[in-house]
Amino acid sequence: MLKDKKITLYVTGSIAIYKSLILARLLIKNGNEVKVVMTEDAQKFISPLTFQALTKNEVLTDVFVENDPKSISHIKTADDTDVAIIAPATANIIAKMANGIADDMASTTLLATQAPKFVIPSMNTHMLDNPATVRNLRQLSDDGITIMETANGLLAEGYTGKGRFPEPEEILNWLDSFFEAPLAGKNIVVTAGGTKERIDPVRYISNDSSGKMGIAIARAARNAGANVTLVVGSVSVKLPSGVKILKIESSTELLEETQKAFSSADALIMSAAVADFRPKRVVDHKIKKTADNDNLSIELVKNPDILKTLGSNKQDNQVMIGFAAETNDLIENAVKKIKNKNLDLIVANDVSDKRIGFNSNDNQVTYIFKDGKQVKSELASKDIIAKQIVDIMSQLLN
Ligand code: C5P
Repeated sequence: MLKDKKITLYVTGSIAIYKSLILARLLIKNGNEVKVVMTEDAQKFISPLTFQALTKNEVLTDVFVENDPKSISHIKTADDTDVAIIAPATANIIAKMANGIADDMASTTLLATQAPKFVIPSMNTHMLDNPATVRNLRQLSDDGITIMETANGLLAEGYTGKGRFPEPEEILNWLDSFFEAPLAGKNIVVTAGGTKERIDPVRYISNDSSGKMGIAIARAARNAGANVTLVVGSVSVKLPSGVKILKIESSTELLEETQKAFSSADALIMSAAVADFRPKRVVDHKIKKTADNDNLSIELVKNPDILKTLGSNKQDNQVMIGFAAETNDLIENAVKKIKNKNLDLIVANDVSDKRIGFNSNDNQVTYIFKDGKQVKSELASKDIIAKQIVDIMSQLLN
């Protein structure tokens, strides 16, 4: 539950702003301290005084109004925030956040804050579907910002569509779900990203892993109160804050770091895409092409299977979760892996489907349990799938 936190609520110029007054009230009712930052357009809908009276805090609207000469108000607010909520978030603030633009109090404070950010968009259906907005929302998600799905319903324009700002109670329930602490005191190891297997100093064998799924899991486990160690290879997205990061390159390094971290951990979620083979010999200089050499062979040797190695002597109270990314015979292969690697759960996904495979923001998986039970998820964002995995892990641990 989201309670006893210092919340900065950023309100921007959407007609849905009237619902933010209720959201502010609900957040305060749960014991949070709420400070509001408003954009200029937001103030055309509602006076800052209304939010000030509700929150009993000064409302910030202008970077150049400094009431306390001893501090810089946007930096003080940015630093003094546990949770930043942007609601309603217009296409404009989303575009600014995605591009690091700081040209008013809200965007400048948001750029300066390191607190976890939750964006609740509100806009016309066509603005939401515009490729620029789609791109900007994807960028926010890649930057580790959590975005709520808009509701489908009657819009201020008089027609029905997506883009509708959800009801304040729904927003509160959604926010609460990120602040449960079922994993408080638990040590969780998550692996993410792809490995690089060196051929020579400038060349390597790797794979398409973006690390998005594993990083989303690390964030979800952190939000559930766990002490998270993220063993991470090559990724294309921002690494999460508030977790211990161990960077690795090869599968051999991944095995070493994961083995060390798992020895004192309660659970391991192995979402890294580990190379099955590596060059037998790493050449210590850049391999040159020569006039008499039209072919080059690289001999590969098998990498150790990390899950299998750790699974063979895992303790009864330790939980191990693996992934099965397959292009064919998904379930049969996954069922074999759960036995072979001594896992408690396997998350199977079909990487031949471009909507959900490597580098996509969405996923659809089948959870396969030790006893053979299978549960298929909806097609959902990797953040939602990550939360489901963390929920299942909490149940397995408890
Ligand atoms: O056997 P396969 O590579 O498909 O198994 C996938 C699962 O096993 C993933 O969780 C992956 O991270 C893990 N794995 C491993 N060590 C390897 C290869 C894969 O732990 N060498």
